[in-house]
Amino acid sequence: MDIITVGDKQFEKFIDSQTIDMAIETTALQINEEYRDDVPLFLVTLNGAMFFAVDLFRHLTIDFTMSCIKLSSYEGTGSTGILQEQLGIKENVKNRRIIILEDIVDTGLTYEYIVKMLENMQPRDVRMATMTFKPDSYKKNYPIHYVALTIPSRFIVGRGLDYNGLGRNYNDIYQVINE
Ligand code: IMP
Repeated sequence: MDIITVGDKQFEKFIDSQTIDMAIETTALQINEEYRDDVPLFLVTLNGAMFFAVDLFRHLTIDFTMSCIKLSSYEGTGSTGILQEQLGIKENVKNRRIIILEDIVDTGLTYEYIVKMLENMQPRDVRMATMTFKPDSYKKNYPIHYVALTIPSRFIVGRGLDYNGLGRNYNDIYQVINE
């Protein structure tokens, strides 16, 4: 299917499943190499990143632990999205090497929020691994250590990414037509 309808919008195929799989595998191999002597803790941001997490974990040969966090965003009175913690960090992260897993880094607001959550918990270090990254939308200075796919600033669905909760299930990634 090259064109799909999700909610009230149409999307066209943008990145095929095989390309996404290869990009995720490359990211996993890099993590295997760089964390050979460590047991990192992956923080999976629900809901979207659970798909990426499973695809990534299948290729990991290192020992690791994982935990899920959930933030919800809602529009405040202005245009700025405000984030709220729905499921916080339950693990003891002291001296742990943390890798945050995201389905997408857009403006970086979510990433910044998680870094600040971790600030007082004394992890050894914190890195970001994201399935997709929109560099033209990114407004923060935190480094993005692992990026499977760098994409233009178009709205996308598939592989866990949703439009109003729908469209996560597609194996290919689709971009919106006539945004
Ligand atoms: P942030 O701006 O980096 O904080 O990204 C906020 C959130 O916006 C992400 O976690 C996604 O849930 C959502 N988001 C941003 N761009 C897209 C997109 O193209 N498709 C689906 N969700 C997106």
